Amino acid sequence: MPTKAKIQLMFLVLLQPLLEIFRIEVLYNLFQIKIPKLRERTMPATIEWAGGIGGHVRMIDQTKLPTELEIIDCKTIEEIWDAIKQLKVRGAPAIGIAAGMGVVVGIKDSAAQDFESFEKEVHQASDYLATSRPTAVNLFWALERMKRVAAASSELQIPEIKERLLKEAIDILEEDKRLCRRIGEAGAALLADGQGVLTHCNAGGLATGEYGTALAVIFMAHEQGKKLKVYADETRPLLQGARLTSWELMQAGVDCTLICDSAAAEVMKEGRVQAVVVGADRIAANGDVANKIGTYMLSILAKEHDIPFYVAAPHSTFDLNIASGDDIPIEERPSEEITEGFGRRTAPEGVKTYSPAFDVTPAKYIKAIITDRGVLYPPYEEKIRRVIGAAQE
Ligand code: MRU
Repeated sequence: MPTKAKIQLMFLVLLQPLLEIFRIEVLYNLFQIKIPKLRERTMPATIEWAGGIGGHVRMIDQTKLPTELEIIDCKTIEEIWDAIKQLKVRGAPAIGIAAGMGVVVGIKDSAAQDFESFEKEVHQASDYLATSRPTAVNLFWALERMKRVAAASSELQIPEIKERLLKEAIDILEEDKRLCRRIGEAGAALLADGQGVLTHCNAGGLATGEYGTALAVIFMAHEQGKKLKVYADETRPLLQGARLTSWELMQAGVDCTLICDSAAAEVMKEGRVQAVVVGADRIAANGDVANKIGTYMLSILAKEHDIPFYVAAPHSTFDLNIASGDDIPIEERPSEEITEGFGRRTAPEGVKTYSPAFDVTPAKYIKAIITDRGVLYPPYEEKIRRVIGAAQE
């Protein structure tokens, strides 16, 4: 082949992918279709209900990420319980969604003939799921919703109540997607173009119905064209930051740098971080926040370095029955997660361990709480009671 033809051919081969993208864009514009973001186009649902009342729960097995994107089907309540316990599904809102759907899985084949026996089964399913993880209040909030729907359905036939429960579980999922969007919209204004933002654990689409809480704020700012530099803590011991957050951010095209948890102070001292944004597992009535272990430490570091520390959470993560963070139950995880996490022993046999999965950040270190009902600033107590109380009614 003559050299000129070879060059033309090479040019065409290199140009082809660009032409492809251009063609898609033109088509989308022609039909005025909003171009979906990369995450929506390529990611399967974090969690969803597959089928009708005879169906089951389908979710991404998050323990396999980022090396495998495996979708699993949970067809029994025990499988759902286990998925929550093993962190196949995790993050407070996603745990709530799984719990709601778990109740449906637990009762869908019930042979109960009368309302009382059926309601008893709903309570049994709910009590069982409540034992999976203790800290994220969304779990208990979702179970309460399911029990309320059952209690209000005494006039209906059992098959109709089952349908209502399924609808409620799916509503919890769909509502969460909307709440996350609103959190993103409320919080994006707090981040400025060019800022460095530190986040901990994973509070993204994988931790929610879609989009995330802390990451929603980042995604939305990114969608608005702000160029952020996100530092993701790896998040010992289960590496949700390394495995999940950096994966999600990269999928969305957000500039992401992974750091060891213990590098946070140095990274802040070097002036690389202008805001910290984290999620929450439970927020007490006074604004104290339980989140992944290591969050409290970050809040103190942020204060020392004069960096605003933000918490992003939907109203379903507030527990108005708990006066302060002192009353939030903190989950303890098994020792293997820190002595032989991911299959390789890294500590001597028989070493004593203590592994709280969460800590509590006092309200005084939190610059603002970003919610689906807007941004709340200190003092929190009255605002939480008024704004979040109304949302929870
Ligand atoms: O143990 P995990 O992975 O369930 O912990 C998750 C977190 O701590 C998240 O930050 C929190 O649930 C908020 S998720 C939007």
